[in-house]
Amino acid sequence: MPLIEARNLPNHVGIIMDGNGRWAQLRGHARVEGHREGSRAVRRIVRASRRLGLRALTLYAFSEQNWARPEDEVDALMALLRDFLLSERSEILDNGIRLNAVGNIGKLPGIVRAVLDPLRDDSSASTEMTLTLALSYGGREEIAAAARELASEVKDGRLRPEDVTEDALRRRMPSLRVGDPDLIIRTGGERRISNFLLYGLAYAELHFSDTLWPDFDAVDLYEAIGSYQRRERRFGLVGKPAMPDDKLALPSAPPAAADKSHLRLVG
Ligand code: IPE
Ligand code: IPE
Ligand code: MG
Repeated sequence: MPLIEARNLPNHVGIIMDGNGRWAQLRGHARVEGHREGSRAVRRIVRASRRLGLRALTLYAFSEQNWARPEDEVDALMALLRDFLLSERSEILDNGIRLNAVGNIGKLPGIVRAVLDPLRDDSSASTEMTLTLALSYGGREEIAAAARELASEVKDGRLRPEDVTEDALRRRMPSLRVGDPDLIIRTGGERRISNFLLYGLAYAELHFSDTLWPDFDAVDLYEAIGSYQRRERRFGLVGKPAMPDDKLALPSAPPAAADKSHLRLVG
């Protein structure tokens, strides 16, 4: 089992849960079977994240662009979402999880809103972990919505144009209320972002897993977090000075041109 340092956990983890369709196709099943198995993986990963002590988990469940998929697939995804919210309701409330949703929530069908809205309200005072579902979500759409808000505030005289700062924009993005994502995980083997948390991921660490989402389990999550913990985040600053356990240590004075003795392997 990979080792994880309890003190260096990412605060906010975002997951692009990809690969449900391929999981089903590999087994000769309809794509919807992959989504069904995928919702079991959601359950597993929410539990593992809570147990680990993550403060914020954002799951990319349905993108704004996913509406253009075949109608029966969209309908099946909405039904699975409702079933998930119904079956997880008590576990979410009993475990101090605040459930939130970001994206164009107004586009979701009534069968989803009927369970989503009360669960959002009823869990709003929970503080152990914020579970955010990105639903009908697009990173570009979220940036555009924040820009529209700023524009109307300027128009009404509530904000000066010079107050349109990067922070002012960030404060109008619901997905970043829990802070910028520290770690973004994408399952399913593709190395792309597909319109997820675009503004917030400026300095996120990225972890790509070949595991298809329905197969993703707690150990895969620990692996991703372990990989995050082994990295040095710099945020545009200079790196830490070389430590004694670095593979290559250079002496402080520059050596003579042909002298390679300064290349010292340590450890
Ligand atoms: C991710 O799995 C779930 C959603 C996008 C809703 P996909 O359905 O994209 O699965 P693949 O990528 O086709 O395998
Ligand atoms: C990203 O996966 C969206 C979600 C996981 C909800 P997609 O399968 O929609 O992304 P692309 O089409 O591979 O870029
Ligand atoms: Mg996909």
